[in-house]
Amino acid sequence: MAVIDIIKERRSCRKFISKKIEDSKLNSILEAGRLAPSAKNRQPWRFITITDESIKEKILNACYGIDTIKTADKIIAVCTTNINYTMPNGLHSHICDLSIATSFMMLQAEYEGLGSCIITTYIEESIRDVLTVPFSMRVHCLLALGYKDENSLEETERKSLDDIHNFEHW
Ligand SMILES: Cc1cc2nc3c(=O)[nH]c(=O)nc-3n(C[C@H](O)[C@H](O)[C@H](O)COP(=O)(O)O)c2cc1C
Repeated sequence: MAVIDIIKERRSCRKFISKKIEDSKLNSILEAGRLAPSAKNRQPWRFITITDESIKEKILNACYGIDTIKTADKIIAVCTTNINYTMPNGLHSHICDLSIATSFMMLQAEYEGLGSCIITTYIEESIRDVLTVPFSMRVHCLLALGYKDENSLEETERKSLDDIHNFEHW
């Protein structure tokens, strides 16, 4: 499958069926994150996979009980290990770095026939507490994963290329 087809196929999936993700698929998703590029190759990430039901319940509470988390088979918390590096262009790198790693994992999930959704709607302090993330670190996002409930998928629009791209000038 061509990368562009995976990109076109992917939708945020907010409801999953109750089928377990195979370990090999989870590993390939984590591997995709591991291999992502980062500023100065600092790899300032830690991925925490939530498999334990009692921990998942606490994460669900921190996410206001949303269906995406409730029905996801696995949740990966994408966390920082360093938030201090500033790139030569003056921007902090960790948001870019962790976003790229998350994107790689989402695309690999799609390739594996799984659905995914980035979740940022949570009480970070609660997540940090449950997952013992150090106080100085950030929970960048949660990635909900599972087999898609195909009926729940929604089409989303994108701006046209003409609207977002020009040659030479803004
Ligand atoms: C940075 C970021 C944060 C997001 N946070 C949430 C969220 O908290 N809850 C949610 O349901 N979707 C969240 N999403 C998913 C977006 O709503 C979704 O990607 C967007 O509407 C486009 O839809 P699509 O992914 O199906 O193409 C987030 C996506 C991104 C990139």
